[in-house]
Amino acid sequence: MPTAIESFPVAAVRRRYSSLQQEFAFLDAPGGSQVPDEVGTAIAEALREAAANLGAGYASSRRAGAILERAEQGAAALLGGTPEEITFGPNMTTLNFALSRTAARAMQPGDEILTTALDHDAGVAPWLALAEDRGLVVKHVGIRPDTTLDLDDLERKLSPRTRVVAFAWASNAIGTVTDAARVCELAHAAGALAWVDAVHYAAHEPIDVRAIGADVLLCSPYKFFGPHLGVAFVASEVSSTWRPYKARPTPDRPLGRRLATGTFPFEALAGFNATCDYLQSIGGFEAIVPYERALGQRFLDGLPDHVTLYGLPTMEGRVPTFLVTAAGLDGTELAAHLVESGLGVWAGDTWYALDLYQRLGYAGTAVRIGFVHYNTADEVDRALSALASATRGG
Ligand SMILES: Cc1ncc(COP(=O)(O)O)c(C=O)c1O
Repeated sequence: MPTAIESFPVAAVRRRYSSLQQEFAFLDAPGGSQVPDEVGTAIAEALREAAANLGAGYASSRRAGAILERAEQGAAALLGGTPEEITFGPNMTTLNFALSRTAARAMQPGDEILTTALDHDAGVAPWLALAEDRGLVVKHVGIRPDTTLDLDDLERKLSPRTRVVAFAWASNAIGTVTDAARVCELAHAAGALAWVDAVHYAAHEPIDVRAIGADVLLCSPYKFFGPHLGVAFVASEVSSTWRPYKARPTPDRPLGRRLATGTFPFEALAGFNATCDYLQSIGGFEAIVPYERALGQRFLDGLPDHVTLYGLPTMEGRVPTFLVTAAGLDGTELAAHLVESGLGVWAGDTWYALDLYQRLGYAGTAVRIGFVHYNTADEVDRALSALASATRGG
């Protein structure tokens, strides 16, 4: 029997990326992944052939309309909703500010929002801003010592005033995955909306909004082999009750389009369509997940003793995003050593996970090493040997 690493055709996958035709190894996908060439080709083609707005009676406009429709269908298929439940924006942060403000139009002072200690600040700051502007109360759910979400704390903090439970499905800093179905269930039992930040999760695992019971879910294709773009799912039973912030002539249907932040970025949507085709052509997450987990396990198995890992020590309950420090070196020195070894990583302090940063307790900065399906076992081994030699004077 071939192993999970041998079974995945990584060499063929990598041939589709010009950027991967070099020795330098990109272990930085958590900050934005590499993009297969066909995505760039689709973007260029859209700029050449579909540079128009919607609604004109000639070919370029019809092509722009077709790109948008395909993108809505593709996102719906990827996330598990319907095309009408999809909306697009420049990135997750912009969409989250817009959608949270829209949802809050029906909220009253004193209404409560729960966020979590695993969240990226793009999932927290919009609610804090609203709390300031509108008198809402934001409470933060803690984590257990092993970094998993503390569901008891979540239950304690839910109240009849809770309107939204917002949480990151996977931590962009340390890779810890949250039991999204359980959190959505608890949110609904309290009468609150379940609001999922799937930006980090979407590069690693399949998503089904219906299976977990999400009301709102956001992701960013530039984290999963696509262009800079934000994608949101908003359940139709929820968005049909919202009063969106929109230009008045924008029609009320489809529901998702009236939530968009302005004219659509058709070229990015064309790139996103190529990304969906790409993912399907390599066998989707069914093919990706076992390979990525095997890479992650190989990394964990080989970690040298002088390296500290923040987060779960096995692949159980995590994606292969690893935050590390090395004894005797600060994060910046460690990152510089890895870059000298041809490994694309950098040192960060909070990784935008402000609450988590306080709890992890490393001094200054730590280095994030992320593996996705285009990385190889050889790159994992190179990361491990660079970490092994990452000692003062090493
Ligand atoms: C978990 C998570 N949420 C939200 C964001 C913000 O996404 P965007 O860059 O699309 O605004 C990021 C970006 O790194 C992230 O990792």
